[in-house]
Amino acid sequence: MLTSTGELLETARRNLYAIGAFNVYNLEGVQAVIDAAEALQSPAMLQIHPSSLAHGGSALIALCLEAARTAKVPMSVHLDHSNSEKDIRAALEAGMPSIMADGSHLPYEQNLIFTREMTKLAHSKGAIVEAEIGRISGTEDELSVEEKEAKMTDPDQAVEFVRQTKVDALAVTIGNVHGEYKSEPRLDFDRLAKIRKLIDVPLVLHGASGLPEHMISRSIQLGVSKFNVNTEVRKAYVEALKESFNPQKSPDLLKVMKSATTAMQEIISNKLEIFGSVGKSYLHQSPYAGMLGVTTGK
Ligand code: 13P
Repeated sequence: MLTSTGELLETARRNLYAIGAFNVYNLEGVQAVIDAAEALQSPAMLQIHPSSLAHGGSALIALCLEAARTAKVPMSVHLDHSNSEKDIRAALEAGMPSIMADGSHLPYEQNLIFTREMTKLAHSKGAIVEAEIGRISGTEDELSVEEKEAKMTDPDQAVEFVRQTKVDALAVTIGNVHGEYKSEPRLDFDRLAKIRKLIDVPLVLHGASGLPEHMISRSIQLGVSKFNVNTEVRKAYVEALKESFNPQKSPDLLKVMKSATTAMQEIISNKLEIFGSVGKSYLHQSPYAGMLGVTTGK
């Protein structure tokens, strides 16, 4: 069932687990997320990156929304990392429940103005907004941010940013990167704890591919309610395609698509386990959703 992103994140936050948001490119990706979530009775999010949107357009949005509507578990659809007012408007018009207004490439004052405007727009359509303060490095599809341009989230600036923009969720940069970690991941948990203490909206951690389980669990304890996952799932997809390739024989396309979906589903299932959302779909379906949980201890 198509569910509001706000409800997913708030219920997860109250009950100390996190929602997995998985970047999807096509039907196989969408099916992999839904099959994993349904098999494990877990809520989840389908997420569209701007490069993927440029390729799939409104048909990709429609696919995700319809798949979420007919899913047997709570599912929302989110526009990831958008710095385009045009794309944000298109996503909202189509009925997407949330967008990420990403002005993190802009100087602080301009990021503030862009995010505030996009938040007003999204709220007028009943959608919610995630934004980023600080800047995450790494590569995702065609978007790259060099390590030297990366910037950790400043907790005091984050407070001011949330207050001024009225965003509903905040993506933090605490040592996380997009793509593969070139060395052992190191997250600044003191910084995360400080941000959590000062800020009341759900926190988001991008670059969850390659993060060890203990770091994910600690992040959840310190208030992260959404993890973005792309690289590991995409890699499983490409590896499955490679394995299906046989130069002697033309492959059965449906079999290839199915094996790619199964490979992605395995990775997604493992992430849902680690995020603690397995078996939690009933909390979102319950009329008491959001009222049953423990507090974050804030
Ligand atoms: P990874 O590709 O590192 O999993 O990051 C995904 C992400 O943060 C999407 O916004």
